[in-house]
Amino acid sequence: MASKKISVFFCQECGNETSKWSGKCPSCGAWNSLVEETVEKTSLKTRARTSDVKPTKLVDVTASNEQRISTNIEEFDRVLGGGIVPGSMILVGGDPGIGKSTLLLQTCQHLCRSNINVMYVSGEESLQQIKIRADRIGEFNDKLDLLCETSLDTIKAVVEREMPTVLIIDSIQTMFNEAVGSAPGSVSQVRESTGVLMEIAKGKGIAVFIVGHVTKEGTVAGPRVLEHMVDTVLYFEGDRHASYRVLRGVKNRFGSTNEIGVFEMRDTGLEQVKNPSAVMLDGRPENATGSIVTCSMEGTRPILVEIQSLVSKTAFEIPRRMATGCDYNRVNLLVAVLERMRDVKANRACGIFLGRSDIYVNIAGGIRINEPAIDLAIAIAIYSSEKDIPMDAKTIVFGEIGLSGEVRSVAMAEQRVSEAKKLGFQKAIIPYSNIPSVKNISGIEVIGVSNVKEAVDAISHK
Ligand code: TYD
Ligand code: MG
Repeated sequence: MASKKISVFFCQECGNETSKWSGKCPSCGAWNSLVEETVEKTSLKTRARTSDVKPTKLVDVTASNEQRISTNIEEFDRVLGGGIVPGSMILVGGDPGIGKSTLLLQTCQHLCRSNINVMYVSGEESLQQIKIRADRIGEFNDKLDLLCETSLDTIKAVVEREMPTVLIIDSIQTMFNEAVGSAPGSVSQVRESTGVLMEIAKGKGIAVFIVGHVTKEGTVAGPRVLEHMVDTVLYFEGDRHASYRVLRGVKNRFGSTNEIGVFEMRDTGLEQVKNPSAVMLDGRPENATGSIVTCSMEGTRPILVEIQSLVSKTAFEIPRRMATGCDYNRVNLLVAVLERMRDVKANRACGIFLGRSDIYVNIAGGIRINEPAIDLAIAIAIYSSEKDIPMDAKTIVFGEIGLSGEVRSVAMAEQRVSEAKKLGFQKAIIPYSNIPSVKNISGIEVIGVSNVKEAVDAISHK
């Protein structure tokens, strides 16, 4: 086996490897994302005897009845698709300080209570620091092993000796594999380290959680490089200054990626939020203009959120547009739709002029929603702020808006209306074509609208 050191370039975004630097990654198209690293290239002379390799018939493969390990944290289990699959690799990504270590330490606590052996490897904190955090969270039993180590060779040896059921690596950016020359956190190091952990996971059937930091600058290799290697990718997100955190699946080989888990960061660690709607609507202003409640489906769960908008005369040449928690381009599109609004029955234009106004749209509570079903609420919030008319606090609206101002049907209308009714709402303005699916719900007035103008009229006349 011959080996030699060569210099290659890795893309910080997608992990693509090239031999030449260029301003744009040839694979993913990201600009200025290539960094130079030295790697050792080993040419393998020995090859497996290809004649011995035979494919297996699918019907002959026996999958042992999938035994999932419950974390006993309902919100976490839901995102995982019903619990931890033994031998799987789960990447938990998120901004520094969002609560990844806290979440995983709490998971350890719960797993240990069900007599599962867990090993928590930290490359970032000392034993004392982990202990201080653990004391805030609560009591731990003796099933949890801690290891402060960054060398993967050592970790591998310890894991093979102790054989925990669940292994936690906090974080992958601190891990160091001596076989790779580059610094911890570099793309090749992160990739190789994950490879070693993968071997442990698949070879020994140990479930491995990997923590990965995401940075905007890309000075450390973002966990995006790993996304294609691991089985499950979860992102822990939320505003660091607000207490709510959302755990979201973006890839899951063993479950749906739609589900979210909602947590609240308290001084005693993360608390599950069983009723996110009530939390998201907490502290809603009364009789304020530019505020309306909508319902978004997060996986199978309806969540009511307040959409806020502020429209004010601009002091600049080009007005400012800002969207927090929702898609910026979508907001621009909805502004255009409002400007071109038509009264279909009277066959005349009735748009509102927004070209000289700054427009800010915000989803209260720090949650991110990309579902088009909140379109109608965004449009109505903007309308309400521009016209200075407060919207009824007991009304919810939802519906997707098309380019000609039509309100299109959305999925799972019934669940959305039921959730609104459960939280005491009295009126729901929904797409006209969704009316048949909600006819069984009583106790809440349901109004179907087919275009933006109708929605605006419906909400303005109580
Ligand atoms: P941490 O889990 O260290 O974040 P990460 O591993 O993602 O970098 O959590 C960091 C924040 O959480 C920190 O700012 C303090 C806060 N926190 C609480 O508010 N309450 C608690 O009980 C704990 C343990 C942390
Ligand atoms: Mg941490």
